[in-house]
Amino acid sequence: MLKIILIALGLLLALVYANAIFSVLFSVVMRLGMTPGSSALKFPTASYGKKGRKVLIAYASRAGSTAEAAEIIGQTLGEAGFIANVMNLKEVKDLSAYDIFILGTAVRAGKTMPEFEKFVSANLPVFNSKPVSIYLFCMTLSQDTPENRKKAAGYFASVKQKLKPASEGYFAGRMDYSKLNFIARFAVEKRVKVPQGDFMKIEEIRKWALEAAAIKAEI
Ligand SMILES: Cc1cc2nc3c(=O)[nH]c(=O)nc-3n(C[C@H](O)[C@H](O)[C@H](O)COP(=O)(O)O)c2cc1C
Repeated sequence: MLKIILIALGLLLALVYANAIFSVLFSVVMRLGMTPGSSALKFPTASYGKKGRKVLIAYASRAGSTAEAAEIIGQTLGEAGFIANVMNLKEVKDLSAYDIFILGTAVRAGKTMPEFEKFVSANLPVFNSKPVSIYLFCMTLSQDTPENRKKAAGYFASVKQKLKPASEGYFAGRMDYSKLNFIARFAVEKRVKVPQGDFMKIEEIRKWALEAAAIKAEI
């Protein structure tokens, strides 16, 4: 009898540890870029518009939706009379030339990208003295319900303790399981339960860009 109890306890412990080890591995891999080829993905650096106030649109993306939105925002603002520079926030060197900031991040495993959080923290004096707007891409909003809006807003809770954004944009992106490696696919299908599909709404992004810029222009 004792033997059976010990074996059962052993199995239970093994299960608990396996789950803990998997969870740690899972969150590390998730944050580091689960999409195969994501390091090979070319993220845009671009400039739009010739005259006007200078806007920096800096993004942290993994599979491209947040980066693509940054380009759409840049284009929209370039056409609307701003000078809009779009770049991966890892490449941003100097903030002094900009009047307005728009910062974008992807969401993975319930969190914004670590480089996004770092970038905000490292430049708080600037972001607290000039207009800043923030946007995120997640799959929670593939179904736009009040409950999911609330959940998506929660992803910005930590950054909003540091700065007061002029405007916040919440968008759904793209998910193609066939582009994920085995672990990522398992994670999004079974753990985070991210649905597959293309939920990008270009017009919504354009509209938000103008709204964000108008709010900022008044500040
Ligand atoms: C590994 C992984 C984890 C994800 N975790 C979440 C999550 O916790 N919540 C969510 O709403 N979306 C989640 N998503 C969906 C992404 O946020 C969504 O696909 C977004 O468009 C990614 O932006 P990006 O293409 O710029 O990387 C996850 C996607 C992947 C691949």
